Amino acid sequence: MSGTGSRRLVFTNRKGGCGKTTTSVNIGAALAHMGHRVLVVDADPQAHATMSLGVSLGGLEHDLSTVAIGRSRPEDALRRSYVPRLHVIPATRRLADFERRYASSGEARGWFRERLSATMDAYDYTIFDTPPTTQLLTLGALVAGREAFIPMQVHFLAMEGMIEIVELAEEVQRRYNPDLVVRGIIPTFVDRGTPTSRQLLVELKERIGPEMMLKPIRLNHALAEAPGAGHTIFQHDLRSTGAVDYYRLAQQIRNMAPPGRPTS
Ligand SMILES: Nc1ncnc2c1ncn2[C@@H]1O[C@H](COP(=O)(O)OP(=O)(O)O)[C@@H](O)[C@H]1O
Ligand SMILES: [Mg+2]
Repeated sequence: MSGTGSRRLVFTNRKGGCGKTTTSVNIGAALAHMGHRVLVVDADPQAHATMSLGVSLGGLEHDLSTVAIGRSRPEDALRRSYVPRLHVIPATRRLADFERRYASSGEARGWFRERLSATMDAYDYTIFDTPPTTQLLTLGALVAGREAFIPMQVHFLAMEGMIEIVELAEEVQRRYNPDLVVRGIIPTFVDRGTPTSRQLLVELKERIGPEMMLKPIRLNHALAEAPGAGHTIFQHDLRSTGAVDYYRLAQQIRNMAPPGRPTS
């Protein structure tokens, strides 16, 4: 698979702690286990996706920021993860400097796309993990990506971050990247045991429409433990609800028709 056959997914939300990194890592791992070649691009200076996939930050000379400014080639920065077929373009703290330095540069928002296009085409799936902001790093990922997914912790205050990101994605689509589509919301930390949680899921579905509501990820302690143990959820506990939920979501994503530009 290459070119338009390869998909570029962005997991993003203005809110922190809603499951962006957990989703990036475990959807990446599930797709790799299904036999696909997967590239995870870590666009968050906190580098949690990089570390969760077993890439150590010590002495990393190349990262996404050095690729973006053209100081490293993508192949210099690529690292193997502990999941077969899954590679990583790591983040380091330098990404924060990159964002500060080029915050007001109009050009920089296109650098991830420019520098990584050929590399992304060599994978079946590229997955961008993003920081909880709407600034350059998130913008760069949305410009390089084609499909935005919004993990969202289902509680009363979560709508705001979701709406902000949908608006940003629409603006990016209009101004810089006609290929971008918002694919849907992924409800995370779902606790079906509580009536409030069930009610909120129903309300969310009414509000965004059933086709935008993707398979939910339940609250599951194993998902929180896995990164510390140096595992994805599939190595950590294959029978956990976290493993079941992420596998189902990966199947749903895999089965979606890749977005194409309208032909007329
Ligand atoms: N479904 C879940 N159930 C329980 N804990 C989770 C779940 N999803 C994520 N976590 C944990 O919650 C914290 C925040 O998740 P994370 O994916 O890092 O969010 P973000 O990247 O949006 O900041 C992490 O400690 C993670 O392990
Ligand atoms: Mg994160």
